[in-house]
Amino acid sequence: MPKNLISIHDFSKKEILHIVDIAEDFEKNKSQNILNDKVVACIFFEPSTRTRLSFETAANRLGARVIGFADAANTSIAKGESLKDTIKMVSNYVDIIVIRHPLEGAARYASEVTPVPVINAGDGANQHPTQTMLDIYSINKTQGRLDDLTINLVGDLKYGRTVHSLLQAMSYFSPHFIFTSPEELKMPLEYKRFLKDQGISYTETRQLSEYLDSTDILYMTRVQQERFNDPIEYENVKNVYRLEASMLSNVRDNLKILHPLPRVNEIAADVDDTPYAYYFKQAENGMYVRMAIIAYLLGYR
Ligand code: CP
Repeated sequence: MPKNLISIHDFSKKEILHIVDIAEDFEKNKSQNILNDKVVACIFFEPSTRTRLSFETAANRLGARVIGFADAANTSIAKGESLKDTIKMVSNYVDIIVIRHPLEGAARYASEVTPVPVINAGDGANQHPTQTMLDIYSINKTQGRLDDLTINLVGDLKYGRTVHSLLQAMSYFSPHFIFTSPEELKMPLEYKRFLKDQGISYTETRQLSEYLDSTDILYMTRVQQERFNDPIEYENVKNVYRLEASMLSNVRDNLKILHPLPRVNEIAADVDDTPYAYYFKQAENGMYVRMAIIAYLLGYR
């Protein structure tokens, strides 16, 4: 059993499917008092609504108590304390640490300086493995299967950590990928090489409308202003895609639209009322999946 969840690669296909099973059980029985002697730290060095609150709710629903912070400016980091010392201190108080940090590799580093399990809640543009687990849960729930689906990833495929993790995890399930992005935000070469090595096919396009009618999962993403060093580069691409309800007239019946959220302009509000919109339920699913991950890493399921 892995000690941490830092990268989606830390979980095997069998473990991913096991988390889906446990999460289904937690969705049916939303409060299970199995961790009432445990304390969970949620330490967030970067803004979050869904990930932090769903982790905190997950811990509460399992009977655990929660400590942490949502803004490092209110901690001794502001006085110059290092990440290493901060993690070592927090480790003294808790049984498991959930960390979000803007630096790629920060969660892995944290796991190397603490004896308690660490869950990566997002490290820069690198990985967001618990988002991937809830995406997989949502895909399985809406499609009734994970195998042989056409998954259309749209938007910021360069900096989007959620699409990088999802691509790697779905590679276990023989997908076909469509990458819809502007030239500036194309899927990085390393991920395309990974797919080639796995024998997984992909198609690239700049046009959002081009493959909508052959898509099972439309995974929309926000162009993330906070990842751009050059404000002009961001201005050039920030409104590149906008999905509207009128564009969904020829889609497959089973199409579901996912988005890790927050959205800005990339999905119009009129899409929310279509049967294809699934992003708010997807965010709810995150709570059950995070209950499953905490319980699994603490050896309870
Ligand atoms: N999907 C996601 O990570 O949302 P938050 O940034 O609000 O946690």
